[in-house]
Amino acid sequence: MIIRSSEFIISAVGPKQYPEGNQPEIALAGRSNVGKSSLINRLINRKNLARTSAKPGKTQTLNFYHINQAFYFVDLPGYGFARVPKSIKDQWAKFIEQYLSKRDQLKVVIQLVDLRHPPSNEDIHMFEWLGHFGIPRIVVTTKADKISRGQWPKHQKIIREALRVPKDVPMVLFSSETGQGKEELWSLLEPYLRV
Ligand code: GTP
Ligand code: MG
Repeated sequence: MIIRSSEFIISAVGPKQYPEGNQPEIALAGRSNVGKSSLINRLINRKNLARTSAKPGKTQTLNFYHINQAFYFVDLPGYGFARVPKSIKDQWAKFIEQYLSKRDQLKVVIQLVDLRHPPSNEDIHMFEWLGHFGIPRIVVTTKADKISRGQWPKHQKIIREALRVPKDVPMVLFSSETGQGKEELWSLLEPYLRV
């Protein structure tokens, strides 16, 4: 994918703020701090267009990034962030679920999990939930640079089994640090971007 332009459009707190038009959207789901914003930056070759942070809970709204004036990345708030009060968490969950289940422009969800660790119950729940709504999924196991190459297959297998990833759902080994998996992921996304 050749990136000719990328711009931040809006930090939405409700459906009225979502961009108008029919262009396809790719959303990023995953635990807080797993590397969703970093993945967007790596895919579009920008250092910090999507704001990242070593502290979890950085992204708290639906952030829309317009790429090549043709499609959007939608950076979602991460789940599993313990320091958020339950009432706020419930509000977020509703908001995110509404977006994921009702948005026609949403074509595919990239679900990120940390390659180093078994998926959490929330990861498993999110993955099943997306499947239940018939939303196309791509699993990205990220932070691959943090463990040795020899360990990758074992860790991928643990994740595949815990999430019960069906055969037709692709899994991509990724690192926002090294750029590994970038071309593979773009080639999986491209079919969803033809309007
Ligand atoms: P929230 O917005 O809180 O939901 O987090 P997020 O999922 O957007 O995570 P973010 O991209 O902000 O990354 C969190 C931390 O992990 C940052 O310190 C990143 O630099 C680091 N990180 C993300 N991806 C990778 C990766 O592939 N390798 C390494 N080594 N670090 C990464
Ligand atoms: Mg983020």
